[in-house]
Amino acid sequence: MPATGDTLVIRGGNPLRGRVDVRGAKNLATKAMVAALLGETPSTLMDVPDISDVAVVKGLLEVHGVKVTESEPGVYDLDPGNVETAHFAQVDALASSSRIPILFCGPLLHRLGEAFIPDLGGCRIGDRPIDYHLDALRAFGATVDKSYEGIHLTAPTGLVGTSIVLPYPSVGATEQVLLTAVMAKGTTELRGAAIEPEIMDLIAILQKMGAVITVEPNRVILIEGVERLEGYRHRAIFDRNEAASWATAALVTNGDIFVAGAKQPQLTTFLNVFRKVGGKFDVEDEGIRFYHPGGKLNPVTIETDVHPGFMTDWQQPLVVALTQADGVSIVHETVYENRFGFTEALIQMGANIVVHPHGLEGVPRRVARREFEQSAVITGPTPLQARDIRVPDLRGGFSHVIAALSAEGVSRVSNVDLIRRGYEHFVDKLSDLGADFEVED
Ligand code: EPU
Repeated sequence: MPATGDTLVIRGGNPLRGRVDVRGAKNLATKAMVAALLGETPSTLMDVPDISDVAVVKGLLEVHGVKVTESEPGVYDLDPGNVETAHFAQVDALASSSRIPILFCGPLLHRLGEAFIPDLGGCRIGDRPIDYHLDALRAFGATVDKSYEGIHLTAPTGLVGTSIVLPYPSVGATEQVLLTAVMAKGTTELRGAAIEPEIMDLIAILQKMGAVITVEPNRVILIEGVERLEGYRHRAIFDRNEAASWATAALVTNGDIFVAGAKQPQLTTFLNVFRKVGGKFDVEDEGIRFYHPGGKLNPVTIETDVHPGFMTDWQQPLVVALTQADGVSIVHETVYENRFGFTEALIQMGANIVVHPHGLEGVPRRVARREFEQSAVITGPTPLQARDIRVPDLRGGFSHVIAALSAEGVSRVSNVDLIRRGYEHFVDKLSDLGADFEVED
């Protein structure tokens, strides 16, 4: 049984050593489950991680009449034979902790002619608006009615292919367009699309189902609508965010972790930065070994970006490593408008981090500035001291845990349930890696 308590009492100073297995990506598995709604026959998804975001989507599918069975650990059979309109209260109760419900819109409009989306949850990392999603759905012909409870969508005469230009290559909005366009009448041209590996895996799934999707150069995707789709059988792409998190945990704790299931092609940008900071890695068929070779770590300047750039979800653990680098590092966060909140706890632990909430103007940049970007300037090395910390969000929370694991003394890290949203069995994995901690309720 995976450990369940909400607080970890961590004695820092033990290097993490050993092996962790990384399974399917949170940011693919949840969307693949939604795609099953579109099939006329059941789908099977393999390598589904045991995380609470998956549980939320399972619940949402079930209230819409989809039969979800875990036939063996990590293998989900999804039968959409009896899709039906859910009660508002059921959807609302489940949806508040996730942003995935917005992706139910297209499939439900195709299946039922209507969809209801309550207020969306997810991590507190900025406004995270859904305007691109709603504009795209309107372009397909959906009617969007907003009320204080949420958003009600209808498409009594069906959805029609269209031309969409995304103002920014949003992952979620690209998925929204794909899940809607595959069964819309006619062809859809999407410009400014996100091309993350999880999106390519979703396209592979939709193709297995019978969709016709062409990925063209320069972020253009063409989708030729079809009348019906079948179920799919698919193994989810590995979780590159989890892989990068454990890799960085090895660096931060002076450790040595073999991340089974990690693959090089989806991690090349991360591996370059890992190497520049001073980490070593060996790529093997079964996974990648990440380790701290001893000696000093080096400062770096990075900008988070859409794929193939350095992911916004990789910067939080990296910042912890940079507190131990010999010199000044800069991290420009360009994807979300509020993703350095987690540094407050690191500063209390002794880190020297200055967050510039409006970015650093005048500093040479590789990608164009976005109006709301922020920058963190990290000066190291600074030994970290134990503190009591409350986890603020998923990725920030993981970074707090590894900071506590490397700090001198005993830290109490509470609210770790949030980390379970995206890291499968992470407390058990910590134990397997030799972390010194106890779990408290
Ligand atoms: N945006 C808008 N309007 C929209 C949609 C997005 O302005 O309608 C903005 C966002 O506010 C943000 C930017 O566009 O500034 C990028 O957002 P995007 O839509 O790409 O993100 P997302 O689909 O909501 C997914 C992942 C995130 C990951 C981002 C970027 C899932 C469930 N979430 O979010 O993952 O950081 O893409 O790669 O797939 C995480 O795993 O911890 C996480 C937050």
